[in-house]
Amino acid sequence: MSTTVVILAAGKGTRMRSSLPKVLQPLAGRPLLGHVIETAKKIKANNIITIFGHGGDLVQRAFAHENIQWVEQAEQLGTGHAVKVTLPVLPKQGVSLILSGDVPCVQQSTLQNLVDVSTQTGIGIVTLTLDDSTGYGRIVRVDNKIQAIVEHKDASDEQRQIKEINTGIYCVSNAKLHEWLPKLSNNNAQGEYYLTDIVAMALADGIEIASIQPELAFEVEGVNDRVQLAALEREFQAYQAKKLMQQGVHIIDPSRFDLRGELTVGQDVRIDINVIIEGHCTFGDNVEIGAGCVIKDTSIAAGTVVQPYSIFDKAVLGEAVQIGPFARLRPGAKLDNEVHIGNFVEVKNSTVGLGSKANHFAYLGDAEIGVSTNIGAGTITCNYDGANKHKTIIGDNAFIGTNNSLVAPIKIGHGATTGAGSVITHDVADNSLAFERAKQVSKENYQRPQKVKK
Ligand code: UD1
Ligand code: CA
Repeated sequence: MSTTVVILAAGKGTRMRSSLPKVLQPLAGRPLLGHVIETAKKIKANNIITIFGHGGDLVQRAFAHENIQWVEQAEQLGTGHAVKVTLPVLPKQGVSLILSGDVPCVQQSTLQNLVDVSTQTGIGIVTLTLDDSTGYGRIVRVDNKIQAIVEHKDASDEQRQIKEINTGIYCVSNAKLHEWLPKLSNNNAQGEYYLTDIVAMALADGIEIASIQPELAFEVEGVNDRVQLAALEREFQAYQAKKLMQQGVHIIDPSRFDLRGELTVGQDVRIDINVIIEGHCTFGDNVEIGAGCVIKDTSIAAGTVVQPYSIFDKAVLGEAVQIGPFARLRPGAKLDNEVHIGNFVEVKNSTVGLGSKANHFAYLGDAEIGVSTNIGAGTITCNYDGANKHKTIIGDNAFIGTNNSLVAPIKIGHGATTGAGSVITHDVADNSLAFERAKQVSKENYQRPQKVKK
């Protein structure tokens, strides 16, 4: 059975009070609509049709890399009208899953269940029972069978007591959509074409309406304003944290955990509070992440300990590395096993070999550093001449004294030593010592200037 996903995303989102279209507002670092598209891809939809209206250019540009059919709904005349405008491109066979671009957390399993119950009948709805159902379309049942969806504004006092609501997620046979949607009218309290009116049409055709409820309520929560966005962010983060904890991760406080992307983990990973993980990250067994770290698109091998407030972007860390606090790894930083990187050390586009150390205040940019080499405190690779970047190559077992400026391009050999405070501008041969500093001048019995009395 071929499945089309139809995403309603034409709404303005006035209550966000933003110049950004609502469906581009981020949840867990990804636009709301992006979450829905990811889920559509997971269920292997044959095609994805997105209905856009407000901020259409921006929305289309944000997803230019995705295989999506865009359909414009120039005027927002209601949810039924929105789906109706897709009819010229909607397949005649198969089913459509109708989703909202501002309901980002619906899970693949819920959609799969919905498709399963709907294919037998031709139409199915995700419903939810709420303590406070104010504002939602109510599910009217007789003998437990769905008879109608009545919008809050159209509902009688008695109907408003109903706790079961329409989440706005449906699975409908495409043949039926082609038949029903042209027949919708806007004869109701809001003067809108209601998609929900297809329920009455199904009943008139003798079709029973299937329904399921989501496993978790947050899956069907919509976002209308920034208060709801922040609340859903926390619910989504709690859900992600729980899944990781079930995989064996020790998250010290799930309410202070943020994953904006995907994290692959080994066992007994420990994550302290206020850590932000972005993009695609991998942490091996027993990796420990200290408080306040921000880690993006980085892989960290087993046994590595990251001290607090370290920031990594597109870095690769080997096993048993010790790093931080306050370390910064920029794109292309590759640390081999057992490397030590200490506080206020920045590494960019550089490889650091097995067991090498840069423990205090250093900048290693465009460098290749061998094994068991020690980089003294305050050392800088001067990789930029104002126009071009140059490489610094340091061999194995080298000892770079403190506060060195290594003026690239430069090569420092295996076993070489450089003296503290040197500006190294020429290559240093294997096993030799190089230093560059003015001779010390000493004056005996020196008298310091005296403060002048006024
Ligand atoms: C709709 C349902 C209601 C349900 C609720 C769940 C109808 C008539 N009512 O109500 O039963 O309880 O969702 O949240 O369907 N949209 C368009 N074009 C339009 C109108 C809406 O693309 O012309 C999009 C919106 O951007 C949004 C979604 O459709 O993503 C739902 O629209 P919204 O106005 O929020 O629906 P409700 O009136 O709340
Ligand atoms: Ca509405």
